[in-house]
Amino acid sequence: MRKNVLRSLSLLLMLAFVLGLALPSANVMAAGKSKKKKVLVAYFSATGTTKAAAKKVKKATGGTLYQIKAADPYTAADLDYDKNCRANREQNDKNARPKIKGKVKKIRKYDVIFLGYPIWWGKEPKIIRTFLESYNLKGKKIVTFCTSGGSGISGSMKEVKQSAKGAKVIKGKDLTDWSYNQVAKWARSKM
Ligand SMILES: Cc1cc2nc3c(=O)[nH]c(=O)nc-3n(C[C@H](O)[C@H](O)[C@H](O)COP(=O)(O)O)c2cc1C
Repeated sequence: MRKNVLRSLSLLLMLAFVLGLALPSANVMAAGKSKKKKVLVAYFSATGTTKAAAKKVKKATGGTLYQIKAADPYTAADLDYDKNCRANREQNDKNARPKIKGKVKKIRKYDVIFLGYPIWWGKEPKIIRTFLESYNLKGKKIVTFCTSGGSGISGSMKEVKQSAKGAKVIKGKDLTDWSYNQVAKWARSKM
């Protein structure tokens, strides 16, 4: 009788030991399967509105922030769209590809690229095409976002897709006036 009790106890102990070892290793495997996505938040901003939105996306996703800088920075006169300004001339020229200063380091390590820009004449500024055409983006997921005076993002999608060869481009949102919480909920759902 006592022998039986001892045997049952040792069986229980063995079971607890095996479960204790097995459960954590199952968790490790599950964590291994859902590998954390590497996020880049690349943006162009001429007057700061898109920059503020990009910072919210960066905070929400834990991504790396990268500012797309024009080699020849845009002055107030360059942006004066009531006149024949530089921005207007570029937007009217399908071959315009304004030069960029600097490069993203090791873009190959990123799985998801959030790409932000202001809307100029209904579309993405041409420097966004320069950016997209400068890298091998095969297999990457690109999620767009913009700020605007009300036009929204739709008009920019065709050219962004044309320039982002081999990438899966997801139409994002116009984040003008979005709170951090709104941005965070949206951005995390797109990772
Ligand atoms: C040259 C130019 C063209 C613009 N065209 C539009 C437009 O077509 N539709 C719109 O809603 N806003 C337009 N805007 C307003 C910008 O999209 C808006 O102010 C944006 O938030 C600016 O972002 P940024 O501060 O990051 O540069 C235009 C602004 C500029 C300078």
